[in-house]
Amino acid sequence: MTPKRKTAPDAPWWRDGVIYQVYPRSFADSNGDGVGDLPGLIAHLDYLAGADAASGDDSLGIDAIWLSPVYPSPMYDFGYDVSDYCGIDPLFGTLDDFDRLVKEAHRRGIRIVMDLVLNHTSHQHPWFVESRSSRDNPRRDWYIWRDGQGDRPPNNWQSVFGGPAWEWDERTAQYYLHLFLKEQPDLNWRNPAVQDAMWDVFRFWLDRGVDGFRLDVFNLYVKDAQLRDNPLRLGLRAYDRQIHIQDRDQPEMHPLLRDLRALLDDYPQRMAVGETFSEEPVKMAAAYYGQQNDELNLSFNFDFTHQPWRARAFYDAIARWEAALPPGAWPCHVLSNHDVERHASRYAAGSNTDVRAKVAAALLLTIRGTPFLYYGEELAMRQGRIARAQIQDPPGKRYWPLYKGRDGCRTPMPWDDSPHAGFSINPPWLPVNADYRQRNVEAQRRDPDSVFHWYRRLIALRKASPALRRGDYVPLIRRPVHALAYLRVSPEQTLLVALNFASRPVLAVLDEPLPARDWQVLLSTADRPDLELLGNSLALAPYEACVLGMA
Ligand code: NOJ
Repeated sequence: MTPKRKTAPDAPWWRDGVIYQVYPRSFADSNGDGVGDLPGLIAHLDYLAGADAASGDDSLGIDAIWLSPVYPSPMYDFGYDVSDYCGIDPLFGTLDDFDRLVKEAHRRGIRIVMDLVLNHTSHQHPWFVESRSSRDNPRRDWYIWRDGQGDRPPNNWQSVFGGPAWEWDERTAQYYLHLFLKEQPDLNWRNPAVQDAMWDVFRFWLDRGVDGFRLDVFNLYVKDAQLRDNPLRLGLRAYDRQIHIQDRDQPEMHPLLRDLRALLDDYPQRMAVGETFSEEPVKMAAAYYGQQNDELNLSFNFDFTHQPWRARAFYDAIARWEAALPPGAWPCHVLSNHDVERHASRYAAGSNTDVRAKVAAALLLTIRGTPFLYYGEELAMRQGRIARAQIQDPPGKRYWPLYKGRDGCRTPMPWDDSPHAGFSINPPWLPVNADYRQRNVEAQRRDPDSVFHWYRRLIALRKASPALRRGDYVPLIRRPVHALAYLRVSPEQTLLVALNFASRPVLAVLDEPLPARDWQVLLSTADRPDLELLGNSLALAPYEACVLGMA
């Protein structure tokens, strides 16, 4: 049971903290246009971390907000198509509102992480408008323009959202590359002028006091220099019938990330977390920390979002991630985000859904690594049902007739049981969830047994516990069937976490006897005064999640 010592004693905030993703369109609408905005978010900061969260009020207690894009955008991909990297879309507010957000958030100890979408711009970005205006425009080479092969596109690459990745542009009689929508032309990151422009974007926000960045599909920035075809394989959609070795994960990405890291390190306590969209997700997500830990500070690994509800599946996912990470790299974990079905729905089990959500939360908030929460998951918010005619998400709408799109995980935050769930005074851009009268912030704040209070208690415990924040991870059952059990060990403290994934009581047999100490229940979903230790076994109640400390 010797723990692997990988952690530094004085960890920066992004290792210690809990990061909460806000999808701004859907969080809180202050001006009644049905779309969430920055003043709406500011008005709810106390919910996320009240000024006196430490004194036991009923705010969630998070440490940072990752804000999905709020830049000016024609909204073909709801902000992931940016037309000005240094502004705020009027739909969300103004730069003054943004500055106020940073100030008000910082006042409450909340950091702000911006979402930078730098693989592509909007087709309405002035850079692209110039680039497409003529073949000899100075910005022509800021994007990827090529002649076709006869009447076919330059190569076989496909758009992630469906259809070929090349769009014919009549005016200059060439194709341009777009790995997402045709309204999202890809930048040419091989051009040093593009790199310089992007470093300026980072500096612009850093100088405004932003604490970090989430990098959208950063591993797609650089493409094969010769734009060679991807090799083919079997698959359902044309996109999946290719092995994506030429349009992603080029070796030149590593020096670029090192440049970025050097830029960030010029500012105190800043970070970048990258979204790796890869053929070998765990391996590549790990590789982008850099062998010397000089690339990304954190790298998303989406393994948890694909796991079935089985203890063994999560155990293996944790083991894969821990094994893949280079020395000194700090893991992070995520169960839900704005691109995937909400996990309360993925793990739905009728009346047991909420208790499962509590087990999942306990895993996310006690496992080694930075937890990323997605707005509403602290209420076990479900996937919203969107009628086909109401679909807003472009890939769902335009390209894949059977695909429902991502709207279901983007429905408005339910604040209370008033019309439109307290999100807006007018009908929101997506319908509120059908269960909002029962499942909302106000109702869960009133109920001490709610999923919200479970998250709040877990976050508070984590904050108070060096072992949960920084400790090593020591699995106690290496072939789990129904339950996970592990220690978190720091020099100051040892905690034990046990999670029963089954709907019945389980005797979880540990590989080795626990040190004979007086274990005290710090938190449990079951109403119990202490742990039942029977020899090497822990007796766990149905779907019990518990954290124990030594008395
Ligand atoms: C990944 C983002 O998470 C997704 O929402 C977006 O559509 C694509 N990148 C394109 O920017």
